[in-house]
Amino acid sequence: MTKSLVTGLRQIFPDKSIKVYNRTADKVVELLTYNPKINRVDNYTDLCRDSSFVFLIIPTSGIFALETDFVSSILKSDSVIVSCANSLTIDKLTEVFPETKIVRLLPNINWQIKQGTTIFQTNSTISTTDLTELTDILTPITKLIEAKSDHEFDMLGKLTSCGPGLFTKIVDQLLTSFDISDDMQKQAVYHTLISTLNYLIDSEKPADKIISEVANKGGLTESGIIAAEKVLPDCFDFISKSMNEKLLERQQNLK
Ligand SMILES: NC(=O)c1ccc[n+]([C@@H]2O[C@H](COP(=O)([O-])OP(=O)(O)OC[C@H]3O[C@@H](n4cnc5c(N)ncnc54)[C@H](OP(=O)(O)O)[C@@H]3O)[C@@H](O)[C@H]2O)c1
Repeated sequence: MTKSLVTGLRQIFPDKSIKVYNRTADKVVELLTYNPKINRVDNYTDLCRDSSFVFLIIPTSGIFALETDFVSSILKSDSVIVSCANSLTIDKLTEVFPETKIVRLLPNINWQIKQGTTIFQTNSTISTTDLTELTDILTPITKLIEAKSDHEFDMLGKLTSCGPGLFTKIVDQLLTSFDISDDMQKQAVYHTLISTLNYLIDSEKPADKIISEVANKGGLTESGIIAAEKVLPDCFDFISKSMNEKLLERQQNLK
């Protein structure tokens, strides 16, 4: 995720230096390939010497292990913690880092192509100015969607954060089942997929209206749609159920 963030930001703010800390220093050196303005620092506290947005793009266990020095520096410099850890709710973050300004973000890897989708929530300590500054930084690389509840965050976030992986798997299976392996043929299918999604978004038409524009009675599309209606509900219900179980397992581990 950090690679994706710094790659996206390089394209928008090529002259802006970004401080990065990772316990494995070589990983930060590797990031210079994606953004030459990376400035490697030696500890978490160095990230917030001045007022900053401090993105925590590490697992929950790493966030829980942050030392009190880090929290004091965040408060002293009036910095904002931006947690990207999935499953860690805004209430839990506020409990772990009391009195600090916190944004909970759930991004996806498409930050790197400036087409990310990011769900967010804030705690009550965040000011309108903080939020405006953060959205000014992120809007050029991602669509930002504020979740109204933890339930909405998880429900939508499952598909947006995992989407690049999950949708790629689905399209890949589609190509296999339709016996498409040649690169030129794959490009033709990808293009049809993108243009169909653009049509869905731009026209704002309901799915059944678009399907009826394509499927003639007794025709080829209709045969595919009828078959899809037989198998897809079970297939996607199963995927959704598996992901819900994983999410629940993570949430229970946090307790
Ligand atoms: N991948 C995604 O598409 C995605 C989407 C949304 C949210 N996220 C969230 O983003 C965070 C990072 O995910 P990622 O995909 O970037 O994972 P990743 O590639 O495995 O990177 C994890 C990073 O966290 C560091 N780390 C691991 N355990 C740590 C600990 N206990 N203390 C300090 N640092 C630790 C690792 O450092 P070392 O190199 O030293 O091991 C590594 O730099 C996770 O919280 C994940 O839920 C990821």
